[in-house]
Amino acid sequence: MNQYTNLLFENNAGIGIVTLNRPKALNALNYEMLNELNSLLDRIAQDESVKVLIVTGSGGKAFAAGADITEMQPLSAMEGRKWAKFGQNVFSKLDNLPQPVIAAVNGFALGGGCELAMACDMRIASDKAKFGQPEVSLGIIPGFAGTQRLPRLIGKGRAKELLFTGDIIDVQEAYRIGLVNKVTTSEDLISVAKAVAKNIMSRAEIAVKLCKSSVNEGMDMDLRSGTAYEADIFGLCFATEDQKEGMNAFVEKRKAIFIGK
Ligand code: CAA
Repeated sequence: MNQYTNLLFENNAGIGIVTLNRPKALNALNYEMLNELNSLLDRIAQDESVKVLIVTGSGGKAFAAGADITEMQPLSAMEGRKWAKFGQNVFSKLDNLPQPVIAAVNGFALGGGCELAMACDMRIASDKAKFGQPEVSLGIIPGFAGTQRLPRLIGKGRAKELLFTGDIIDVQEAYRIGLVNKVTTSEDLISVAKAVAKNIMSRAEIAVKLCKSSVNEGMDMDLRSGTAYEADIFGLCFATEDQKEGMNAFVEKRKAIFIGK
């Protein structure tokens, strides 16, 4: 039974699908939805039956058209800061979820919606998807880490252009600048995202999780510390049964059968 008002969740043979579900408001992120996402992520982090998570939006028109403007309109400075910190914490939880996370972007991913997509490990988008950080048109700046994740993803110059102009770009441009990993049709979006999920699931589960941790932790470190961290994590892989199976299978010229241990 779905216990959320603004989200749908299903676990489809190891592929978890979270659907933002306020289609009439283009899945705008209100407090209630982010609070639900926060609890759901806690649940998923503990649920070893979810191997890969897909995040998408309902209604066919939007992934999420941003944080809910009607809720933000009356905020004081301190309330604005509290709201930003709350959203940042939820997105950080998503970014650092043990499982890989794929954003399946089916329409507008604006403001907080674009920030949500960027907090996922990769982005697969339909040919109708549109991206942007239009906050400067509202007299604010992105508050859910857009000024931080966008330059890390696409570089400082391109990020500043999008952030300063508030321009909304189509999916081809998003693909060209590296904001999007893959483009497909709306009809095929979820099946393409699932195919990527299945590809990841065919590999050694612990190694994939450790890869994610090595990239995420390392991105916040200088190169020397990041490479040292990687060496530790690399060593840790040799404590797994899947390392033995993966290398034995290679030597024996057969397909590895991983058990996630
Ligand atoms: N917040 C609240 N409601 C929103 C919303 C948002 N971010 N985006 C869309 N909606 C609502 C509209 O108000 C409208 O509601 P009603 O039917 O009750 O009037 C409904 O969704 C449908 O939207 P439109 O009629 O505007 O649809 P459209 O096709 O004409 O335009 C759009 C689509 C270009 C995405 C337009 O809705 C739009 O510009 N939305 C706002 C985008 C935006 O500025 N996002 C950034 C928000 S700020 C932010 O996210 C800050 C942060 O980093 C934390």
